[in-house]
Amino acid sequence: MAKFDKSYHLFDRASKVIPGGIPGHQSPMLLVFGASPCFIERAEGARFWDVDGNEYIDYMCAYGPMVLGYNHPKVEAAARAQGKKTDTGNLPTERYVELAERLVGIVPIADWAIFGKNGSDVTTYACRVARYQTGRNKIIMIDGCYHGIGAWCTPISAGITAGETADMLTFNYNDIEQFKRIVAENKDDVAGVILTPFRHEALHDSEMPAPGFLETVRKTCDDIGGVFIVDDVRAGFRMHMGGSLEKFGVKPDLICFSKALGNGHPISACVGKESLRSAASQVFFTGSFFTSGVPMAAALATLDEMEATGAIEIMYKNGEMLKDGMLDQADTYGQQVNYTGPETIPFMTFAGEDGWDKAKVFCEECYQRGVFFHPFHNWFISSAHTEEDIKKTLDATDAAFKRVKEKMG
Ligand SMILES: Cc1ncc(COP(=O)(O)O)c(C=O)c1O
Repeated sequence: MAKFDKSYHLFDRASKVIPGGIPGHQSPMLLVFGASPCFIERAEGARFWDVDGNEYIDYMCAYGPMVLGYNHPKVEAAARAQGKKTDTGNLPTERYVELAERLVGIVPIADWAIFGKNGSDVTTYACRVARYQTGRNKIIMIDGCYHGIGAWCTPISAGITAGETADMLTFNYNDIEQFKRIVAENKDDVAGVILTPFRHEALHDSEMPAPGFLETVRKTCDDIGGVFIVDDVRAGFRMHMGGSLEKFGVKPDLICFSKALGNGHPISACVGKESLRSAASQVFFTGSFFTSGVPMAAALATLDEMEATGAIEIMYKNGEMLKDGMLDQADTYGQQVNYTGPETIPFMTFAGEDGWDKAKVFCEECYQRGVFFHPFHNWFISSAHTEEDIKKTLDATDAAFKRVKEKMG
């Protein structure tokens, strides 16, 4: 029986010295409070161990970064080798140039790349590039979509002024008519559009782009001279090595990457087209750690390993096995579920639920059986997940569906 005594003792200590204890997406309030762990002790491959010694096959992958699995030997060896030489310094290292060259080589739309630390750094930067390029103010985004903690997009309004969001226009995902209307009403002031490759915000079924949606955004940006930005921070390198929109055959102007790029090492990148190079070089973008060598060495090793092993195909294959197995089980136990998103970034909700009660019961049973899912945030597959892991996972999910049926019908 998994217990979480040390986790909650640590959380009490954290709450005394850190506002909110664990603020943000890793808060235990956002899992199954009291029945899920709060702190990690160690992690390896597709597994992690919490501070109470409970072991989990992990389907959150640190909310995306662990694309090859935790503590990947080749990535960590590259990081260590760079660390022995230098990490954060007065000047960038050779890795900085190599990584930009590498991204320009693998991402078809990329003629240049620039680096930050977090996804928020580059999504904010991309909007500024769009504004500087066009001399216009408005950025169009999907209502409710997450692009980070920039004042322009943070979903929680505490501490944000009305002025900071005044130039954002929102529309509903896949609503082509509403999008066209907003553009028509603001045409002379639209600098660009920022979209994730598919809709994947928390507390929602994921949604793939409707036929013609991405093409309409592309054409509209061309017609009005606006910049099409793709926020690939969450999905990047789990759908296509060249940026997720390659999957749909649509070419944006700017792409923001982070999470999977360094397999857990802190790095983000914005890549873009030649036509935006001048604007990109004039928008002020710098940070004490933006050029650190270790995450860049890790990112180079991550990209090499992903290409060498066909990591994305492995993730799709195992993700498909998980999906098929869980859908069969849901059927067996008479549960209506929505299994959405690409197989590499899947999500499952219980259809027609008002709250998240079934999802929490489901996850609680999975935690007890050593499998880590999130009740209301999309999941992630890594290439470290094996067929054997998926089989073990399906044993746990079978019991979890059974428990949901017994407890909640
Ligand atoms: C789509 C998307 N954009 C931007 C961000 C922000 O990235 P970060 O948390 O690294 O600032 C996230 C983080 O989850 C994200 O999912």
